[in-house]
Amino acid sequence: MTVRRATEHDAAALAAIHVGTWQAAYRGQLPQAHLDALDVQERRQQWLASLRRRPAPAVYVAEDDAGAPVGFVVTGPGRDPGADGEVMAIYVRPEHWGRGAGRDLMAAALDRLRADGHAEAVLWVLASNERARRFYEAAGWHADGGSRIEDFAGVPIEELRYRRTVANSVWDEHAATFDDEPDHGLRDPSVRRAWSRLLASVLPPAPASIVDLGCGTGSLSVLAAGQGHRVVGLDGSAAMLRRARGKQPDLPLVRGDVSRPPFAPGSFDVVLVRHVLWAVPDPAATLARWFELGRRLVLIEGRWSTGAGLTAAECTALLRRLGRSAQVRPLTDAALWGKPVTDERYLLVDS
Ligand SMILES: C[S@@+](CC[C@H](N)C(=O)[O-])C[C@H]1O[C@@H](n2cnc3c(N)ncnc32)[C@H](O)[C@@H]1O
Repeated sequence: MTVRRATEHDAAALAAIHVGTWQAAYRGQLPQAHLDALDVQERRQQWLASLRRRPAPAVYVAEDDAGAPVGFVVTGPGRDPGADGEVMAIYVRPEHWGRGAGRDLMAAALDRLRADGHAEAVLWVLASNERARRFYEAAGWHADGGSRIEDFAGVPIEELRYRRTVANSVWDEHAATFDDEPDHGLRDPSVRRAWSRLLASVLPPAPASIVDLGCGTGSLSVLAAGQGHRVVGLDGSAAMLRRARGKQPDLPLVRGDVSRPPFAPGSFDVVLVRHVLWAVPDPAATLARWFELGRRLVLIEGRWSTGAGLTAAECTALLRRLGRSAQVRPLTDAALWGKPVTDERYLLVDS
């Protein structure tokens, strides 16, 4: 089972899952007239319009091992007063229930909500849908006392609101295994050498002052410090910083929010940021602050096969909005990643 970001090519599959799941899961719970009137073609058009909207909606698809979509989830800002984020929909084809697709989709939804800066989220469920309620309760959601009556084909139906905290644990959860990826841990000497060469090609002569924003386990900070630079790492995750400290105890590390780095403007020669911009809630405002911090911005980003990330075109468009331009260098060398890659990875230096 894999989960990836939906594209407009998924419109037909999403429509089929949407209608098929409603007709199977809600039989006996919603009026049959309402279920019979659901139309796959109409839904497909709605999905197409939705998936073509920009910014793209947060829709993730679960695929089975043969690559067939079996479920989807949609998240976004909460639509009720007092709701921060929301899981708007989560559906899995009935024949795939109990095989992990719902769990994986929920994990993707929580990641997305966190990345969008939500601390808490709600969802609505039919009061009669015992199976779904058990699933949500097992996934850490609880009924918060909110309820509403919705009209389905003229029949009033009760829905209950569920809620859970989503804040600030995903990176902590990832910290223990983060360095297992070759480009994260840089444990393989050839991968480490590739990153060392790349850094040397974009950093000024040592010693330069560098801030590594969202430094994670500190791999790039340690590498740059080893090249003679004065490096400070900043990250929001205590668990990530613990790992960084374990690599180099004297490395200056600060816990804080990369969206509001606690440093005076012009504090650094270089602002170095790898794989972080995609995860901040307001990339344009955050980039503007990063530009103030230092003389040169070195940004390493990607749009990964998981669907997460930012394309180089999205990044350069953000820069243009700030009146900046940049040189983009594709990072296609397998030595950087410890394996061949086909998705989009790049380095961007402002010019
Ligand atoms: C994908 S990891 C990249 C880590 C490191 N830059 C690297 O390339 O190995 C993203 C890191 O950004 C941090 N992060 C994400 N959003 C953040 C925020 N708003 N403030 C501080 N740190 C944040 C996470 O804790 C995590 O360590």
